[in-house]
Amino acid sequence: MIKIDKQKLLEKGCCNFTITDSNLLSELKSLSLKQEFQPKNWKKLRWSHWGMEFLSTEEALDFVDHYQYIGEPTQCYFQMPINSNEDSITKAVSNVIKSWTSEAYDIDESEIHPPALCLNIMPKGFHIRNHRDGGDGGKTRLVAFLIYMNEDWTDTDGGELVIHGGMETISPKFGRVVMIDLTKHDIEHEVKLITGDKSRKVLVSFVNKS
Ligand SMILES: [Fe+2]
Repeated sequence: MIKIDKQKLLEKGCCNFTITDSNLLSELKSLSLKQEFQPKNWKKLRWSHWGMEFLSTEEALDFVDHYQYIGEPTQCYFQMPINSNEDSITKAVSNVIKSWTSEAYDIDESEIHPPALCLNIMPKGFHIRNHRDGGDGGKTRLVAFLIYMNEDWTDTDGGELVIHGGMETISPKFGRVVMIDLTKHDIEHEVKLITGDKSRKVLVSFVNKS
């Protein structure tokens, strides 16, 4: 059973923990076999505030290679929506996100909209500059979840999540979960440049009230 540091989440705007439940860890591992995780399917690019779809991954990467001639983007990553109703594993991941939200905010699960899932992928040279995720004072948005999917990630691979200008730095290692509060804080955060050859993968979920 995960113990969520609610106090830290609500006072500092962010908390993190590492999943220890072996069933959930193996569900996450099998999720990584889905087509969204396969490099040939990475075609939807977020580049600054634009969303662009390319015909192939190579075409997208060629575009990024040349971005310095246009100007450095504030953010650059592939974004793949994952249908959380598609199968038992995606449903299980969505449900556990809902139960963590319920525990952290002391609200009933019936008050939480079924969490949607998205896979964000950052190959070498990609980054996300300092930004906020856009809280609305708790009217609808509750929390952003980041579930890291990177096995064998090392400190030389880069891609750390940096919170509030360095208040905390989190390495995106497999099974680590970050919760960013969107009701009161909506803290600034960034993702450092990916420096290794592995692509950084994270499941992202913005949880809303139902
Ligand atoms: Fe963010």
